[in-house]
Amino acid sequence: MNVAETWTLAARGPLRGTLRVPGDKSVSHRALLFNAIATGPATVRGLLDSEDVAATAAAVKAFGATIEQVEDGVRVTPAPPGVSPAGPIDCGNSGTSIRLLAGLLVGSGLTATLTGDDSLRGRPMGRIVDPLRAMGAAIEGAEGGKYAPLHISPATLTSFKHDLSIASAQVKSCLLLAGRHVGVSVREPKQSRDHSERMLRAMGATLTLKDGWLHLAPVQQLSPVDVLVPGDVSAAAFWLVAASIVPGSELALPGVGSNRTRTGVVDALLAMGADIEQGTIMAPGSEPVCDLLVRSADLSGARLGGELALRALDELPVLAVAAANAVGRTVISDAGELRVKESDRISRVVAGLRACGVEVDEHPDGMTIHGCAGAIPGGGTVDAHGDHRIAMAFAVASLNSDKPIQITGAQSVRSSYPAFREHLESVLG
Ligand code: S3P
Repeated sequence: MNVAETWTLAARGPLRGTLRVPGDKSVSHRALLFNAIATGPATVRGLLDSEDVAATAAAVKAFGATIEQVEDGVRVTPAPPGVSPAGPIDCGNSGTSIRLLAGLLVGSGLTATLTGDDSLRGRPMGRIVDPLRAMGAAIEGAEGGKYAPLHISPATLTSFKHDLSIASAQVKSCLLLAGRHVGVSVREPKQSRDHSERMLRAMGATLTLKDGWLHLAPVQQLSPVDVLVPGDVSAAAFWLVAASIVPGSELALPGVGSNRTRTGVVDALLAMGADIEQGTIMAPGSEPVCDLLVRSADLSGARLGGELALRALDELPVLAVAAANAVGRTVISDAGELRVKESDRISRVVAGLRACGVEVDEHPDGMTIHGCAGAIPGGGTVDAHGDHRIAMAFAVASLNSDKPIQITGAQSVRSSYPAFREHLESVLG
């Protein structure tokens, strides 16, 4: 159980130096989950060490996989078939853990209960439960399957086709995992992050794309895959915004994941006038990486909607902070999904910015931010509401703020970035 933490942070000058951000959260979850059902052991290097990933690690151990520390990473040895978890699996705050695990377990012949903290039990699960049931899964949940806890019993699945009404990598990945033995086709209104597709291909699966339909052919066995987890672009986003808004900053961020389905934050900042240099893209495994160099710049308001909003969805809270420092208006739209994340991130960001003296209009699917053309007034208290990305976005806001900002619920950063404060100190010198 986490002890509540309050941070009071004030502007402390430029950010300088080099920062290696932690491993990508999405890739870390998948490296553990997918290798836990492969035919042999694999090594994962650069795994994110955070509460969300620890929840996934505990879950795969609960159905018999082993994860051991080795010299340069962790070794995942797959689960023997037929080991049902002894008790409920607690996914904590992690939507990726619960939704991907549900897909992995429904056709496995195992019995399992998946649950999580208050936030996770309030997040929509009908989006996975309905299609899983349509393919024959025996899955129950609170309020008829709308919410966790989810109870899974053995069932025989059939091949199926599902048209997603919202773009979601968690839903897509859940369905790919569920349909791995029987075949499955999914279509999304826009392309969400594709880490699952890349990793499954590297494990020998055949995935094809035709007329917008992604088809996974039945695969009886997945080969183990060694994974080198790239630096998390979602973690880098905090530093990209911080160094952009604090005058005199220059920060190097080596080895950041540059998968196009994730780099909307870089494109959004460039559209706002940021000074970001991207190094040569390398692909040491199935994910591309590159070095980033960011210097402070005068930012201008921009329109962040459509495909760009999806490619920067998790980064919109900190992009809103960039917008608060910019000249002119920024309109964030097509981001209604933000309301069903770890918190309602639209109302949290709007409340937080207003508490810091920034003028913001709230919309059902986003917000309009009236930029302060430099430092924001600050001086307010922001409730992170148990949401790591809200806590870190407002920690960044404090770095170019006239008065200190108080952040309650800051312990939530442990979900994705336990070293955040330490890293902040290291670049503030
Ligand atoms: C994730 C997908 C996204 C993202 C989340 C991680 C993943 O959620 O917001 O932080 O690892 O698949 P949705 O796919 O539900 O939008």
